[in-house]
Amino acid sequence: MTRIDARPLRLHDFEPQVDDLCAQVVAGLRKPQKELPCKFFYDREGSILFDQICELDEYYPTRTELSIMRDNIDEMCAVIGERCMLVEYGSGSSLKTRILLENLRDVAAYVPIDISRSHLLRASRALAKRFPIEILPVCADYTADFELPTPESDVDSTVVYFPGSTIGNFEPAAAREFLHTARLRAGSDSGMLIGVDLKKDPQRLHAAYNDAKGVTARFNLNLLARINREADGDFDLSQFAHYAFYNPLAGRIEMHLQSLREQIVHVAGESFAFREGETIFTESSYKHTLDEFATLARESGYQVQRVWTDPQKLFSVQFLVST
Ligand code: AVJ
Repeated sequence: MTRIDARPLRLHDFEPQVDDLCAQVVAGLRKPQKELPCKFFYDREGSILFDQICELDEYYPTRTELSIMRDNIDEMCAVIGERCMLVEYGSGSSLKTRILLENLRDVAAYVPIDISRSHLLRASRALAKRFPIEILPVCADYTADFELPTPESDVDSTVVYFPGSTIGNFEPAAAREFLHTARLRAGSDSGMLIGVDLKKDPQRLHAAYNDAKGVTARFNLNLLARINREADGDFDLSQFAHYAFYNPLAGRIEMHLQSLREQIVHVAGESFAFREGETIFTESSYKHTLDEFATLARESGYQVQRVWTDPQKLFSVQFLVST
């Protein structure tokens, strides 16, 4: 672990992915159903495209979650309490966090964790200018092993903030494992404020992942561009198409990249054959009912204490306490 001292920010850098990208990409492409880990979407380009997705008319989650936060911020701050260490998994641009930091009383420390170092540092610097609190950025792949930094300030409680329904990207068993580990890392009497996308009309879900401007398609295809850049790949982006649909049995949106013809692609010195129509599975985005999520939380050592939703029940923000 290296520490870069650029006061007042102390970056805890677990140097994620640099040598993992090639190995994980090759392993995913060798599977009978080819797949790529969705965490690799978020390089510099991908993070910018994701921020554009969040502004799309069809992409309701970000806007809805923000409105739930704004409408219920007083209650949220009351359950979080004073002198908390707020730990955010996948902080990105930290937009939603601002609402919390502006309203929480006496925050002890803010620990943003993100895989994208550039995004993490930019967001942390901006927050440091605006909020006189201890900010301890952690650059890590939070699905891998890492430790939380110890703040200098006194901490009364630790609250994990996990917005954006990123929990939906995990397969059910991995979601339980992730919540369980996050809870162990935060301590036995910690809480979690989490954004959870809800089951709804499949048409609406379909539109959110098939926007008219094609931003989601560019976001998906950027994964291949990134592999070309960083893993010595030769994907021809014009020969793959964005393909996203709601799988009602699994209760998830599936994103794929579909090969438009039979072709051979090289990555990191290996060859991969594609049949016409064959896909690379790039992302799952699970949608839950409130009951389903309560069960998932319970199986992970948490109990749902509060649920806030929008009037149309598109999205939820939930406060979990460890049991
Ligand atoms: C980052 C998990 C919230 O699943 O909706 C957006 C990512 N993928 N459009 C989601 C995403 C395609 C996203 N999350």
